[in-house]
Amino acid sequence: MKRSFIRQILESIDDETISFAGGLPDENLFPIEDLAKASEEVFKNKKHFQYTISNGITPLREKIAKFYNDEGFETKPSNILITTGSQQALFIIAKYFQNKQIVIEKPSYLGAVNIFKMNNLDMKPVSLEYDGINIEEFNSIYSSIKLAYLIPDFHNPKASQYCQTKRDEIIKTVQEHKGYIIEDAPYSELYFEQKAKSISSEVPNNSFHLGSFSKTLSPSLRIGWVRANEEIISALTMIKETIDLHSCGISQYILDEYLKDENRYKKHLELLRGEYKNKMEYFVEVLQEELPNFVFEKPKGGMFVYGKLEGVDTKTLVYEALKKKVVYVPGGEFYLGDEVCDEIRFNYTHSTKDEVRVGLQRVKNIL
Ligand SMILES: Cc1ncc(COP(=O)(O)O)c(C=O)c1O
Repeated sequence: MKRSFIRQILESIDDETISFAGGLPDENLFPIEDLAKASEEVFKNKKHFQYTISNGITPLREKIAKFYNDEGFETKPSNILITTGSQQALFIIAKYFQNKQIVIEKPSYLGAVNIFKMNNLDMKPVSLEYDGINIEEFNSIYSSIKLAYLIPDFHNPKASQYCQTKRDEIIKTVQEHKGYIIEDAPYSELYFEQKAKSISSEVPNNSFHLGSFSKTLSPSLRIGWVRANEEIISALTMIKETIDLHSCGISQYILDEYLKDENRYKKHLELLRGEYKNKMEYFVEVLQEELPNFVFEKPKGGMFVYGKLEGVDTKTLVYEALKKKVVYVPGGEFYLGDEVCDEIRFNYTHSTKDEVRVGLQRVKNIL
């Protein structure tokens, strides 16, 4: 198993290193005061410090179900399992499907790839284009495998988004073969133009739709969820019980308290979208000035810019970059093989304007 380069880097970088590596939200945008107020309420009740139910506290599942219903995706609280980040949802689902075959995108999220390896899932990568997975390849492989892991909105690492035509094709294929999709959607709320309709909403009984508060509120709370049909949720809950009995109750109560004011969360999401769009625009502008040979598509949301430096071995380059106190993730990390790769993933949400300029100048100088 490849140890996550990102995790390794997060452990080894010092304060002077400018990091475009992690998928970190901007700390200045955490709604600390509102979360502090919510925590204060939660801490008044000693019952909140007790063990709780495995599938997650009911009022929070009700609120998450409402997010779906508001978008026309019919969902009951019993369709929701609250997990310790969406990372745990992925682990539980992989356990549920262990030893099976699964279609994944090429490139894909390393955290999921490692989970699939650990649970002995046989991964079949299909090329990912900027408007989504290659449909011909997908259809030919999915028809026999009937299981796929996809990140349709603001992909990690590719920053791409599936177009509606490809979403419709996938829906047709899933329905035709009565298979399943695992739709991982931690970045879906971070759109700059408009929110796309999830694939899962058209195949509600044949999908696992994963959400998370990590990218919208705070990753440290470690709260995510999976939406699936009730029968599957029961099976997943049994697996979750064996792992940790339940996700952190205090975090769940804090989120529930915070979300009682629906408007506050809506406004917070609007703020995030605006700030991240500005950050993306600035990053792209500096990127074009400092690294004009970097070929990429401008992201429509999410946290990353992904592209290629034709003919440059970006993994070799990153060790030079580390010496010069700047770091990014070489694209090769997101592929199954160990082939040389000229792609790079940059995170643009975490750095300041100064860091963006200085960091990209450092990369330019090494080149
Ligand atoms: C595509 C994807 N899925 C899942 C996760 C895990 O997120 P969390 O466990 O914090 O919800 C991440 C984190 O970066 C991610 O990029």
